[in-house]
Amino acid sequence: MPPIASLPTAKLPLDAEGIHALAARSMFELFSSISEGMFLIDRSGRIVWVNDSYQRFLPALGLGSVQDFVGHMVEEAIPGTQMRRVLETGQPELIDLLTNRAGTFVVSRIPLRDEAGSVIGAIGIVFFDHPETTLRPLISKFAQMQRDLDDARRELAAQRNRSLAAPATGERRAKYTFASFIGSSPAAAEVKRQARRAAQSSSPVLLLGETGTGKELLAHAIHAASSRAGGPFVSVNIAAIPDTLLEAEFFGVAPGAYTGADRRGRDGKFKLADGGTLFLDEIGDMPASLQAKLLRALQEGEAEPLGSNRLVPFDVRVLAATSRDLAALVREGRFREDLFYRLHVLPIRVPPLRERRSDIPALVEALCEDLALRGGDAPPELLPGALALLAGQPWRGNIRELRNVLEQAAMRSDSQSLDAEQLARVLREAGVEPAAPLEPLEARTDTGDEQWLRPLAVQVAELERRAIATALRTHGGNKLASARTLGISRAKLYERLENPDR
Ligand SMILES: Nc1ncnc2c1ncn2[C@@H]1O[C@H](COP(=O)(O)OP(=O)(O)OP(=O)(O)O)[C@@H](O)[C@H]1O
Ligand SMILES: [Mg+2]
Repeated sequence: MPPIASLPTAKLPLDAEGIHALAARSMFELFSSISEGMFLIDRSGRIVWVNDSYQRFLPALGLGSVQDFVGHMVEEAIPGTQMRRVLETGQPELIDLLTNRAGTFVVSRIPLRDEAGSVIGAIGIVFFDHPETTLRPLISKFAQMQRDLDDARRELAAQRNRSLAAPATGERRAKYTFASFIGSSPAAAEVKRQARRAAQSSSPVLLLGETGTGKELLAHAIHAASSRAGGPFVSVNIAAIPDTLLEAEFFGVAPGAYTGADRRGRDGKFKLADGGTLFLDEIGDMPASLQAKLLRALQEGEAEPLGSNRLVPFDVRVLAATSRDLAALVREGRFREDLFYRLHVLPIRVPPLRERRSDIPALVEALCEDLALRGGDAPPELLPGALALLAGQPWRGNIRELRNVLEQAAMRSDSQSLDAEQLARVLREAGVEPAAPLEPLEARTDTGDEQWLRPLAVQVAELERRAIATALRTHGGNKLASARTLGISRAKLYERLENPDR
């Protein structure tokens, strides 16, 4: 085989400098052709050059022309950019996700060095501008992780607030009351009525409903409104604890049962909840072996710690929740029928958000205020059309999903206000194709059939609210005149005003 040097490589430069120059040029051209856009910044972070393809992002960034881009500091032109980090560290970032008001992008950032090796600038490359379509599985996973992280952060912040608020009384307190359950639609009013009634009783309560509907919130509220409010509220998420540890978690461990760290014994949740409420979350995930032991404990009011032969009495009110179809689990033989009936004394079905769409405006307002409280900014404001978009979604993740969408959108927006497009983008990035917007009922002018195909009670309550509001407006707030116009007594009008969803 002939030596490489003698191959007919006519145009290949043979000197190091020439090869370097050729490679650099080829790579630049390659990036330029396969990427969605490129720009350069100088040592100070000022944009000095942009290629043609990048320029189509300018409108989405709120920039009118190339003059608004080139010559400006990179952070001013591209919200959220990390280009400066590359200038500071000199390290390339070969792949990263950048999210701002123009969308989510897969980007690369590469430092540029002079002969002596000093960083003199950097090049920014956009590889995908619609990662939500091209990289959907990856982005959904990222969005899910981001949401989990947000949830965990929120929970930590809430725990910190609670222990700051009540340092002496300990932290096993309910953190929500019925006032925290936002909603005045007939469906929301009904679930609150049932939960209030349950708070008066000492029987077990079973909260059933899709994920994110507010089962845990209601469990806290029931405890807080019950005669046990002064006692502890202890919750166990059964799905989050490995089966092998659940028994010890529930019933505790007797001293000396194990050697090592747990030698001194450990109280179980039944003991910790003594005198208060024990919330068994995700009860449908309870392993069969433990179901029998739980049933016995509930029936006898006594628990046997692991490694002990002594029964410890407890006084605990049990609330349970699940998003699974517990009756089906019973039919399939995966959940004990006797335990099911023991827990099913006061079942409460928590309605999904799509059955109470009229609560969406109030929920959005409360959630935005809550986000603002935690973030320290003013609450985000929804522009016209944004609420209609939210009202039209199926919300499979219910209020948790609504909250996450608002939080993500607010985080990405550089302004105080959120429009429908920004919200739609967040939905898409989470892998949900946005459904058509639904005008809020007050503003609806269409005469389509869809608005009539909802529960009659909801429609009647809406109609009453509208009639009363119109009468009051017409009569300048005069209740007597309004009641006369509507042909109802003044007492009835007061009753409706006080409790519009009765
Ligand atoms: N009616 C409501 N008003 C205000 N916030 C609500 C309401 N319902 C739920 N939320 C909020 O939505 C989020 C989810 O609620 P929660 O954890 O109670 O749901 P869940 O039914 O227990 O869900 P999962 O089955 O997934 O555990 C929480 O942040 C909660 O504060
Ligand atoms: Mg829950």
